[in-house]
Amino acid sequence: MSEKVEPSLAVLFVCLGNICRSPMAEGAFRQAAREAGLDCRVDSVGTAGYHIGESPDPRAIATARKHGVDISGLQGRQLAPSDFEEFTHIFALDTANLAGIRSRAPRSAESQISLLLDAVPGREGQTVADPYYGDEEDFERVWRDISVAVEHVVEKLKGGG
Ligand code: 4NP
Repeated sequence: MSEKVEPSLAVLFVCLGNICRSPMAEGAFRQAAREAGLDCRVDSVGTAGYHIGESPDPRAIATARKHGVDISGLQGRQLAPSDFEEFTHIFALDTANLAGIRSRAPRSAESQISLLLDAVPGREGQTVADPYYGDEEDFERVWRDISVAVEHVVEKLKGGG
């Protein structure tokens, strides 16, 4: 009897610098997936290469830590052509990142590319605001947006979609 082999899930979060929003999304998603028993590869990248090899912003690390998630070991990486082969789902944190991802996607790309907040009913098309020039409350707001969104994404992926 032959078994149907499903392509394994691999989720990529994309922001501009890969030091604030997308590492927070990676950490929040990893925790939500673990709690839901969803087996899934997770990573994050930036569309820009300003912070390659760097740790997340200390404010992002502190905010995630406050919510029980350690992202201090992550390292900045830039979106690469191979990401479109390796990741089944690519989530942009804002509309500029979405445009940047789409403009770099090879014709052959099969990844599902969408805006993260599209996963949240009533928030379709919205952006997770860039907190880089903001304060602690802006990072908290990012965490709130992201944690709601990743719960929806995990539910959707658990349901096969
Ligand atoms: P992120 O935030 O895209 O959420 O990682 C930013 C990080 C760095 C810069 C801009 C946004 N920057 O201009 O260096």
